[in-house]
Amino acid sequence: MHLQTLTALLACAGPTLAAPTNTSKPFSTWMSSSWLSKGQKLNNHYVMAVIHEGIQKAATTQKDAKLLSYASNAISSIVKQDGTLIGWDATFYTLDDIRMGNNILYFWNAEGRKDKKYEIAAKGLRDQLDRWPRTPTGGFWHRAPIYANQMWLDGIYMADTFYATYTSYFEPGNTTAWNDIQLQFDLIEKHTRNHTSNLLYHGYSEDKSTVWADPVTGASPYVWDRALGWYFVALVEVLEVFPKSHPGFAKLKGYLTTLADGIKKAQDVSGGWWLIMDEEFAGEKSNYIESSATAMFTYSYLKGVRLGLLDRQYTATALKAWDLMTEDFVQYEKNGTLSWTGTVEVGSLKGDASYEYYTTVPLSLNDGKGLGAFVYAATEIELAGL
Ligand SMILES: *[C@@H]1O[C@H](CO)[C@@H](O)[C@H](O)[C@H]1NC(C)=O
Ligand SMILES: *[C@@H]1O[C@H](CO)[C@@H](O)[C@H](O)[C@H]1NC(C)=O
Ligand SMILES: *[C@@H]1O[C@H](CO)[C@@H](O)[C@H](O)[C@H]1NC(C)=O
Ligand SMILES: *[C@@H]1O[C@H](CO)[C@@H](O)[C@H](O)[C@H]1NC(C)=O
Repeated sequence: MHLQTLTALLACAGPTLAAPTNTSKPFSTWMSSSWLSKGQKLNNHYVMAVIHEGIQKAATTQKDAKLLSYASNAISSIVKQDGTLIGWDATFYTLDDIRMGNNILYFWNAEGRKDKKYEIAAKGLRDQLDRWPRTPTGGFWHRAPIYANQMWLDGIYMADTFYATYTSYFEPGNTTAWNDIQLQFDLIEKHTRNHTSNLLYHGYSEDKSTVWADPVTGASPYVWDRALGWYFVALVEVLEVFPKSHPGFAKLKGYLTTLADGIKKAQDVSGGWWLIMDEEFAGEKSNYIESSATAMFTYSYLKGVRLGLLDRQYTATALKAWDLMTEDFVQYEKNGTLSWTGTVEVGSLKGDASYEYYTTVPLSLNDGKGLGAFVYAATEIELAGL
């Protein structure tokens, strides 16, 4: 384990943070089993997909057969024998609901590519993308009909990693599909990237009909940390499966490396990142260092380095964030379990997308979007032997 982390762990005893009893335990499985000890009910929601992907990554990294078997059975339990994904509506178009497809594909592949029910379920999601309502230039609507002609960074994570992984498994030679995946990134980049800060705004409205839309670009007004976190993760994960021979690979890699630079520059001295990341709001009243994005950025940096997509210098950026997370965001409970703090419940482009809106959404304890991302990050720390 990283030395600074250990020292910090040993030093952190307080009224709410009891010193951990065993610092040699890997955080990935420790946080996963802590979450499981709370007995939550599984469904097809994307937050469950994130948590279960975390558990699966932790189990795989630590070779924990019992935990892996839990994750495998959990995913299996929401796909019926005939390939029906329980809770999914083939006629409701919301990108969030595609995310569980990644968990399904993971176990289909890892367990020998033979379970027909997973293939059917994944094909159902894939076919839905072919019918998806799109903006005039071809971007998937974030949700129909409420977010017509809008693309959000979050949606790239929810659907395009699945789209790319599915294509890599079942239609690797389908250039139309690879072009289409690239197009989703090209569109969101074109409309939401700030080329000075290299950060991206939360989303855009292609017809600029939304109250928050910039009259020229259609972009929403602020850089919301979690949306950017999802997007950073999505770039790394899509590049992992994207064909290197396709011109889109270099383009996406360019998006990734410039974003990595922008995010590094926005890192606070504490090691974390502000909820609203636009430079002028750093340290602003009611803005705060938020934990889910801090975890997502840490994961993306480390995984990007491991895959050779990002420069090794970013390991230091990630370690700084990791220390903050294990010192401040992980809460060491008296009964030996871990809790996760500091994650904002939600950030939506449903309303006016104002600074006031984003900064007054409550935080919640053990929020899966942050807790799951922390587990992702922990597995990369452990894989890198840090
Ligand atoms: C700490 O945890 C590790 C891994 O779970 C275990 O092997 C070891 O025995 C534990 N040590 C103590 C002092 O509890
Ligand atoms: C290739 O991808 C396109 C776009 O997603 C899709 O419409 C088409 O059905 C796919 N073709 C094959 C042969 O799978
Ligand atoms: C882009 O980011 C820079 C640096 O944070 C900022 O000064 C500028 O106002 C931003 N541009 C737009 C169009 O918001
Ligand atoms: C451990 O303590 C936490 C915090 O009080 C609690 O939420 C959790 O349910 C406890 N877990 C077990 C297994 O008792």
